[in-house]
Amino acid sequence: MNNTAKNILEVNLGPLKLDNPIIAASGTYGYGLEYTDFVDIAKIGGISVKGISLNPRIGNPEPRICETPSGMLNSIGLANVGFDVFVNEMMPRLRELGASVIVNTYGTSESEFAEIAKRFNDVEGIKALEVNISCPNVKSGGMHFGISGKPAAAVTAAVRKATNLPMIVKLSPEAADITEVARAVEDAGADSLSLINTLKGMSIDVNTRKPRLGVGFGGLSGPAIRPIAVRMVNQVFNAVKIPLIGMGGITSFRDVLEFFLAGASAVQIGTANFSNPQICTEIVDEFNNYCIKNNIVPSDLTGKVIL
Ligand code: FUM
Repeated sequence: MNNTAKNILEVNLGPLKLDNPIIAASGTYGYGLEYTDFVDIAKIGGISVKGISLNPRIGNPEPRICETPSGMLNSIGLANVGFDVFVNEMMPRLRELGASVIVNTYGTSESEFAEIAKRFNDVEGIKALEVNISCPNVKSGGMHFGISGKPAAAVTAAVRKATNLPMIVKLSPEAADITEVARAVEDAGADSLSLINTLKGMSIDVNTRKPRLGVGFGGLSGPAIRPIAVRMVNQVFNAVKIPLIGMGGITSFRDVLEFFLAGASAVQIGTANFSNPQICTEIVDEFNNYCIKNNIVPSDLTGKVIL
């Protein structure tokens, strides 16, 4: 395909149009505003903000993060400021800065997921909802909905009824069969899927003999999980028709290409933001140069692995 279009990185994820396919992953980029000293956040294709619930949440006891070989464990427990503070105090600034805001949402029941989705219908400047049925760190909601098709579809259908916004559903690698969940969620009305969230893990301090996280277990992210994520993106690509947003341990543009070849139409970058706050915008530039050099657009790469 020729690349004479105005913006060669522009992507369409169903009804969601982004200037480029690089998205900052929820939980690793705060509310976007925390990064404004380092980055022009308007340059990032999308910012998936920390999962927002109807009411504020304090999350799990500390410590909530620890480093592991080639990765990180977190047990944040969806701590967040809640709907009102996010909308009234953060959205005005995000709009002013021109950020492309994707709201990751969390509920403990189908009706709570639907209610928060409904409330976002009236908020100016939201590009899409990312329905979080994959967080491993909460006692109810989160991953409990995402590990099999039926509950995942029920939440998706409830949100679909409640929202006019493009709907991304974020999948868990803990599902017995992620393709079954992906198909169920597609049938229930999701516009696109993001995958994978973290894998459950544990790390123990051998001196104290205590877990290094306050609640014992947490979600593993970072390069350690990348081959699993790439495999799952490829499996889901072959199982559904809706577009995929791949994630899991991306640290370079090379990794982005790997996800595209496996089947992604966009990617999210998560853990790497902690060590390089400019990684998202650096990769946007690299992707742009790559497309110009090779006379392609990002969608030319999707699913083009040679098996
Ligand atoms: O614990 C957390 O806040 C993590 C959320 C997630 O993985 O979705």
